[in-house]
Amino acid sequence: MENIKIPSFTVLPEHIGIIMDGNGRWAKKRGLPRYKGHIEGAKTFRRIGEFAADIGIKCLTFYAFSTENWKRPQEEVDAIMQIFREYLLEAEERKAENEEKGIRLRFIGERNGLPPDLVALMEDTEAGSSGKSRILLNIAVNYGGRREITEGVKAIARRAASGEISPDDIDEAMISQSLYTKDIPDPDLIIRPSGEYRTSNFLTWQSAYSELWFTDVLWPDFTEKDLIEALLAFEKRGRRFGGV
Ligand code: FPP
Repeated sequence: MENIKIPSFTVLPEHIGIIMDGNGRWAKKRGLPRYKGHIEGAKTFRRIGEFAADIGIKCLTFYAFSTENWKRPQEEVDAIMQIFREYLLEAEERKAENEEKGIRLRFIGERNGLPPDLVALMEDTEAGSSGKSRILLNIAVNYGGRREITEGVKAIARRAASGEISPDDIDEAMISQSLYTKDIPDPDLIIRPSGEYRTSNFLTWQSAYSELWFTDVLWPDFTEKDLIEALLAFEKRGRRFGGV
């Protein structure tokens, strides 16, 4: 990493969401197959996760594969799954190094539908890093915000139907508690690179009050300096949560 001056921030987000977008265009610009963009994107993911830990961010959620991404050509889907596999195998090999870095990894999204060997690797990685506390990296795989809310609401409805709770007991806190993110704060900041201005079914419930920050930079080109720029912009935003 080149020498980067880290500003002394007056306020840091507790939780940042990142939509890793632009890998395909990054590859296309270079006349490469799309999967090469995802390989490069995975390197950026690793670099930015570690840098975020260094500057004191406690929780990051990366959008890696959405419930809609299955619509992509099969060979691209397979390549992305293979990148996840290789990352997890490598994380296992570099366990000691990761332990030192204090990185806890966790996956959010539906495991059903993912290759079973990948799910096993995900579970091993989660179990192996569960004691770490410097930073929590959530990776959203086969994740969709609407699907997450729907499943959460179904579980609540089942409790109501069985008489365990009354429909009047249902409140926002109960819905929040039914989501994958029940034990972490809502994201204060969501970053989307690649010049697209939407949140694409990412942390749909949780992002109600998130600050949004966009950049034209494609995800594989996203650097530590871009993260700093987003954090400096966040620092300047006055968050009122509907108050004055
Ligand atoms: C969106 O860019 C990116 C994806 C759907 C895949 C993201 C996956 C990775 C970066 C790999 C992550 C690896 C680990 C280990 C978590 P796009 O393909 O939509 O880009 P485009 O809009 O330019 O086509």
